[in-house]
Amino acid sequence: MDARRAAVLRVLGVERLERRAGVAGAAGAAGAADAAGAADAAGAAGAADAAGAAGAAGAASAARTRTGAPVALAPPAQAATATLDWEGLASAVAACTRCALHATRTQTVFGVGDRAAEWLVVGEAPGADEDLKGEPFVGRAGQLLNSMLRAIGLARERVYIANVLKCRPPGNRDPTPQETGCCLPYLHRQIALLRPRIILCVGRIAAQNLLGVDTPLARLRGRAHALAPLGTPVVVTYHPAYLLRAPGEKRKAWGDLEFALEVAHGRRA
Ligand code: URA
Repeated sequence: MDARRAAVLRVLGVERLERRAGVAGAAGAAGAADAAGAADAAGAAGAADAAGAAGAAGAASAARTRTGAPVALAPPAQAATATLDWEGLASAVAACTRCALHATRTQTVFGVGDRAAEWLVVGEAPGADEDLKGEPFVGRAGQLLNSMLRAIGLARERVYIANVLKCRPPGNRDPTPQETGCCLPYLHRQIALLRPRIILCVGRIAAQNLLGVDTPLARLRGRAHALAPLGTPVVVTYHPAYLLRAPGEKRKAWGDLEFALEVAHGRRA
């Protein structure tokens, strides 16, 4: 095992697991091509696959219900959001009353980081800590996300971090299609303003909503999806909150991160 990889595995807390499992160097590319990912050795094909195509629908600000029916925001509201600059967008989010979540939030959680970042990390929705602080990923899951980013050489300040929902769903329940339908135009505008080189989606909810698909997480990992209109590559991995509950999956998450690095550098499509 080379020194860099050993350091990374230590950061992710994987080394001990690997030793125990007697896995000697399988964590890298092999991680990205785990059972689910391997199903899609399609790599390049992934860029033009059905999920990618559905991403176009996502970029057109239409969230999808579990059955695939779009839940669209009224066109005037969509159009207004699509022309805002960063400051206008932040103000619109802060004042948003498009869905019922505005009534229970402490504050909105717009996003944080470098507005010229090459990497955009997309999560699901603020939790209790984020709702109080007004910043995404500041709780325990956020600490792990920071470690994951550090493991691939990215300081939190060098990336941009946002969620599909800008307000906390009470009790941290899953977002409803109506809520994501109202809120996704904000994320799409953030993506249009940022024009990231790569989007790392953490967790099923973020990935399914951004890509506009119902595909299980296992089948979304391990390939680059193209998000319209620019074909921005989207790589999917586990949510850090899940990894806190299932540390045995960290090795696969590391594989996803390595894969994302390759995609960001244009070495994988
Ligand atoms: N989980 C998320 O998906 N986003 C956050 O901001 C915090 C926890």
